[in-house]
Amino acid sequence: MLQKKAPITDFLVQYVKNDTFRAHMPGHKGRALPGTSLPAAAFAWDITEIAGADSLFEADGILRASEQAAAQLYGGADCCFSAGGSTLCIQAMLAKMKAERRRIIAARTVHRAFLNACILLDLPVTWVYPRNGGLIAGAYAAEDFERALASDPSPACVYVTSPDYCGNMQDIAALSTICKSHGARLLVDNAHGAHLAFLPENRHPLALGADFCCDSAHKMLPSLTGAALLHCSEGCGMEMKQYMQLFGSTSPSYLILQSIEGAMVHLANDGISRIQACARRAQQLRERLSQYAFAGDDPLHLTIACDGEQLAAELRAQNVECEYADRTCLVLLLSPVMEEADFVRLETALNACAPQPPATLPTLPEPAEQALPMREAALSAWEIVPLSQAAGRICGPVQVPCPPAVPLVISGERITPEWCDLMRFYGIETIAVVR
Ligand SMILES: Cc1ncc(COP(=O)(O)O)c(C=O)c1O
Repeated sequence: MLQKKAPITDFLVQYVKNDTFRAHMPGHKGRALPGTSLPAAAFAWDITEIAGADSLFEADGILRASEQAAAQLYGGADCCFSAGGSTLCIQAMLAKMKAERRRIIAARTVHRAFLNACILLDLPVTWVYPRNGGLIAGAYAAEDFERALASDPSPACVYVTSPDYCGNMQDIAALSTICKSHGARLLVDNAHGAHLAFLPENRHPLALGADFCCDSAHKMLPSLTGAALLHCSEGCGMEMKQYMQLFGSTSPSYLILQSIEGAMVHLANDGISRIQACARRAQQLRERLSQYAFAGDDPLHLTIACDGEQLAAELRAQNVECEYADRTCLVLLLSPVMEEADFVRLETALNACAPQPPATLPTLPEPAEQALPMREAALSAWEIVPLSQAAGRICGPVQVPCPPAVPLVISGERITPEWCDLMRFYGIETIAVVR
């Protein structure tokens, strides 16, 4: 089952060795600029679709071979590489749903990539709201999705984010059963979960019954930023590429593509055992740091319930930078490349901090009225107003702080004072509204 072959890497190594004159793009010709701080290999390996290098969206050579090996590693039917992050995979999954004429039912905890794709594809969304928690990290009830599916017999799909930014996971197996009983597709934004297939118990969405899911290889695996995988439970990778090319650059970065393959080879060598060792060591860390309250389900998201902003500042003073912090939590991301010394450093830094209790999350306001279709509102003329003047106005293009880039009010919704309070809680001071 394991990928040991590295067709993209082998090609690049040979091409560099051949010392071919590059009368092709990019303009750097494979040579590092004098005085650049980037390593020379970044230029040498940065090629374009030359003979033998395949072409991502029509792949039938080295790229396709590497994708098929990745599909095998994850136990999926097909897999497409993305140099445009999970964002491109989400666009492709939703374009496929549009082609299948399915309506979209989505858990409201979504990344703005989902929202933007719906706006571009003109897909209205039926939202399911969390029962507990908030929009950054919320707990959903499977029966709420069942109700949304049962309310309309037309073809549908369910879209959920799992793990969320804080490492909480939804019950994908239960959602899959519900979706299957309604003939609906299940799409999972697994941007934060590329490692889940390799935990002692496989918790990857594909293994739990998702039809499609995206994994950002750059978030939890050792790949370059922009690297992602689109996993398919059926052999429709070439069809998915048609949707990907609607949105993606025609010049996907070979550095990024090679780095996906690199992560796959790493997994096949000792990466899987390193993920499992990392999960065990993270658990040990949780047990030793008894002064902290940990949250979340994923072992590699070290999420602490506390005043995250204050803890982030204390960690920064010790030269440790977190992934995400707000007034209710702080998220530290762990990975299989971490060594024992990294865990010791983290533990020492955390032991030197004095965590303060988390702020109380405001109750989630009642769902806002959808005053305009999402696409119309997002593509209307807009202006920025302070929150003090926003109540009653209609939300225009969504502007959210990243991380976590989870929109609170959505394009087209009429803003209420309660939603303004929630935005203020997260430090948002202004909002773009339809003019
Ligand atoms: C939950 C979630 N989904 C999707 C994305 C988009 O992923 P990418 O940056 O790989 O395009 C992100 C990015 O942070 C995310 O957090």
